[in-house]
Amino acid sequence: MTTTMKTLTLTLLAAATLLGRVEGLIRLSLDGDSWTASNGNGSITVPASVPGGIYSDLRAAGVLPEDIYYRFNDAEYRWVSYENWTYSTTFQVSSDIKNKRNITLLFNGVDTIADIYLNENYIGSTGNMFLRYFFSVEDYVQEGENILEVRFQSAVISALERFTAEDYIVPPECVPDEYHGECHVNFLRKMQSSFSWDWGPAFPSVSIWKEAVVYSFIVTKVVLSNSQYKLRISLKKNVELLAANNGYIKNYYVSVLFNETSQVYEVTQHVEISPDDTMCDQLTLGISTLPGGNNRNQAKTMKITSDQLVDPQFEATWYYSEDEVMNWWPNGMGEQYQYRTYAECMDEDGLYTIEKYIGYRRINIVQVPVAEDAEKGLSFYLEVNGVPVFAKGSNWIPSHVLAEMSADPNRIRNLLTAAKNANMNMLRIWGGGLYESDLFYQIADEMGIMIWHDFMFACNMYPTNPRFLDNVAAEITEQIVRLMHHPSIVVWAGNNENEGALRDNWYGTGSNFSLYYSDYVKLYVDTIGEVVQALDTTRPFVFSSPSNGLKTIEEGYVSQTPGDSLYGDVHYYNYNDDGWNYTTFPTPRFASEYGFQSLPSIYTLSSIAIPSDLSVGSELMQRRQHHLNGYEEMAQQISRHLPLPDDYDTEENFRTFIYFSQINQAMSTKVETEHYRRNRNKLTDAGEGYTMGALYWQLNDIWEAPSWSSIDFHGNWKMLHYYAKNFFANVLVSPYITPEGELVVSLISDLPYEMDTAVLSIYVYRWDSFEFDIAIIGAHRLPAATAYDAYNETLENILEGTTCGADGGTKDACLLYFTLEDDTLTKKISPDNFIFLSEINSAIGISDPSLNITSVTGPYQVSGSDTYTYNITVSSNAIAPFVWLEAENINGFFSDNGFIILQPVTELQFYTTQETTAGELESALSVTSVMSSFH
Ligand SMILES: *[C@@H]1O[C@H](CO)[C@@H](O)[C@H](O)[C@H]1NC(C)=O
Ligand SMILES: *[C@@H]1O[C@H](CO)[C@@H](O)[C@H](O)[C@H]1NC(C)=O
Ligand SMILES: *[C@@H]1O[C@H](CO)[C@@H](O)[C@H](O)[C@H]1NC(C)=O
Ligand SMILES: *[C@@H]1O[C@H](CO)[C@@H](O)[C@H](O)[C@H]1NC(C)=O
Ligand SMILES: *[C@@H]1O[C@H](CO)[C@@H](O)[C@H](O)[C@H]1NC(C)=O
Ligand SMILES: *[C@@H]1O[C@H](CO)[C@@H](O)[C@H](O)[C@H]1NC(C)=O
Repeated sequence: MTTTMKTLTLTLLAAATLLGRVEGLIRLSLDGDSWTASNGNGSITVPASVPGGIYSDLRAAGVLPEDIYYRFNDAEYRWVSYENWTYSTTFQVSSDIKNKRNITLLFNGVDTIADIYLNENYIGSTGNMFLRYFFSVEDYVQEGENILEVRFQSAVISALERFTAEDYIVPPECVPDEYHGECHVNFLRKMQSSFSWDWGPAFPSVSIWKEAVVYSFIVTKVVLSNSQYKLRISLKKNVELLAANNGYIKNYYVSVLFNETSQVYEVTQHVEISPDDTMCDQLTLGISTLPGGNNRNQAKTMKITSDQLVDPQFEATWYYSEDEVMNWWPNGMGEQYQYRTYAECMDEDGLYTIEKYIGYRRINIVQVPVAEDAEKGLSFYLEVNGVPVFAKGSNWIPSHVLAEMSADPNRIRNLLTAAKNANMNMLRIWGGGLYESDLFYQIADEMGIMIWHDFMFACNMYPTNPRFLDNVAAEITEQIVRLMHHPSIVVWAGNNENEGALRDNWYGTGSNFSLYYSDYVKLYVDTIGEVVQALDTTRPFVFSSPSNGLKTIEEGYVSQTPGDSLYGDVHYYNYNDDGWNYTTFPTPRFASEYGFQSLPSIYTLSSIAIPSDLSVGSELMQRRQHHLNGYEEMAQQISRHLPLPDDYDTEENFRTFIYFSQINQAMSTKVETEHYRRNRNKLTDAGEGYTMGALYWQLNDIWEAPSWSSIDFHGNWKMLHYYAKNFFANVLVSPYITPEGELVVSLISDLPYEMDTAVLSIYVYRWDSFEFDIAIIGAHRLPAATAYDAYNETLENILEGTTCGADGGTKDACLLYFTLEDDTLTKKISPDNFIFLSEINSAIGISDPSLNITSVTGPYQVSGSDTYTYNITVSSNAIAPFVWLEAENINGFFSDNGFIILQPVTELQFYTTQETTAGELESALSVTSVMSSFH
């Protein structure tokens, strides 16, 4: 492969020399630390970096003395967002550059409202952080020194100005008070959660933020890094001066469409050359397999010479039958085969290559009647390569509130790896955040993490003046062109929750429904829908998330009954009822959001607090709770099940509250998720069921605060993330007790093949003894891709003959434990599962197990891996629920956590990439369970 490429390069370079022209394209990067940033009256001037942003620059200069997330700094540093900041730099231009016909200034990401000046000449404005901006500057650039200025306006003030200038109120008029946020972010094409959210702070920054791949000029390399996943290193720039006589590739994008009629894949490579009055001397388009990849695909290449290249828009389509390609599959269903496509623009300077990696997969959302009676609704599930897929995963929010920090490669890789490790196959990129970095989508492609991608509109009505709509159309075009080749992206969605907000009058639009309805249609149907329809029919588009799918469309894009269990996807939250009882939950077709709050690790919170802040009752912890009555709801949910002290808001009880909040979150989400998975093949008389998606809210955090996340801002897995790994396992034994007192055991399989025999065992334990009774052992079928109730029996009958059913026995003293093994009885094919027969806080015989960590050994390292493994032994005097280990300030995760100890000695592993020793780890470790106290 490499050899072939080299040969090709040499041939083309030779051809270039023959053409005998000398002028090439010159690129001048204006990135780096040669910038300064000043406020409006000039009282503050600091060195600045590009890419970067004002909060980062002020922090680096010491104007902001502390970490922006420390204590009350979201309030203390808010002044930054009310200032108008000007970024400026000087740069030298040579005669070579000045003599070019076309000189373009390119910005890959400007957040958000700014006027750009070159040598005091106004050259244009920016107004959308999700767009690239190209300005022609040949008339303004001068040989020698040039001064470039980006004059930002305060985002908060510009939003207010736009709100005020609108003819009518576009609500909400502000975020709720408990967000401590700013108003009218809906008037800016800016990360919507930068003005605050119910899990995040307001840091309405200005920035030249994005390190984007500059498509046309990258010489790309394929390298195999020493980490588990391949990384493709590309040159990335934010601000650049491009000087050319010839053209360059401004856009290169690739669509992979499976044509249902002809049953072939149509791969179309689109090239857009700019400036449009010049061309490459020669354009080459090609497709090839990856180094070390499969060889089912015949490589294809096409060369277009400048005389053939009469149109600056050029496209070529290749056709492949199904058996000529290897498919891309979601995680857990097969391999993620990818192919390399490329476009090469040759000019006298050399060969500029831009490449995009594609995958062959067919995506449909199947929406067909579930029963003859049309009233029973339509299915709603993803079909990948013709196979129905149960979507398992979570929701993604921005990984940092500052846009320039949101693409940290380590953070992104760790979070996506944690998603894969938890058996997820889908993440939904939520509509209040960002179109993520290229790396994000590359990793998702490589890991088989399907992406449900909202466009960036969330929990707001939006203006529909022509300027705004044009801006949106440009944004959607740009992002589709940028991202459409990624096989991981399987759904585009118009917005987050705005259909429901409009129909259910969240923001007082009810008094003039028809006005806001017409705005809704203008934005999501006539603007976004039109762009999607024109550019990308290779994957499904839904108008909102959630929506009732086809039913929403039939009812004019705003359904009469948003959140209907019988159609589309739903977001469901219930903080009042018992989350550990499955009857609390609805049975929708596809749950794209649901969840419960918890607090992050004490170590994570300690990093932004002083000791006296560390209680639920403190001013700091109260301020960080952006969800109204959030702590009261958590306390109420916890008290149902666990021995929560009445004075839970004190410093003394903070660790207990954190720990209990994580237990409650893990258990409630477990119960809800297993309920959804159990209903994969069931349909009630009312038509509920055929559930095919469970994406809990939310995977990650934006800062250190209470939230719905399963991984905290410092990367620590909360108990929920360990539970997710189990409840998303491909094969799962899932027990539940019906209101009639019957124990039912479901077997769930997302495997594409049947297993003849799965051996189910049910054990009965008393809290006061390690001894157990085996109630049942039985063999069951495990058909492919199904969930069914394999076993049921009254509790009474199960307990009879055990220590819990015999004279004096009581179910309140007991728990049930479930295993599923293969027919050799030597291999577990599901994570173990459990059911308590009473609440923990009223269980009889439960006691302090006196847990100790008795040994830590290691590190052990698999060669070629950057992960160190340590073995840990925990000893216990009693059965212990929710056993929880933490390692203070050592990043890593355990092989299991939050588990039930059923024997005196338990062994587990800790994985970390950090250099440490067994001794250090041992002193950093703590272990607890519900009846233990913290030390
Ligand atoms: C920012 O600029 C706007 C006009 O563009 C002006 O009205 C406002 O006073 C300026 N604010 C500051 C703090 O300089
Ligand atoms: C390129 O330069 C030529 C000659 O100066 C000019 O006519 C043309 O408009 C430029 N094109 C662009 C896209 O700036
Ligand atoms: C699918 O293939 C058929 C038959 O070759 C062709 O007529 C049609 O245009 C193709 N559709 C698309 C969307 O490319
Ligand atoms: C779950 O809730 C239902 C309905 O309130 C109730 O009948 C049932 O007893 C509850 N189950 C358990 C195990 O608490
Ligand atoms: C339990 O099994 C009986 C007999 O097979 C069946 O009639 C009943 O519906 C089952 N109950 C549940 C909750 O599955
Ligand atoms: C843990 O250590 C304490 C103090 O040494 C001891 O009292 C307790 O019995 C130990 N627990 C176990 C399970 O060995």
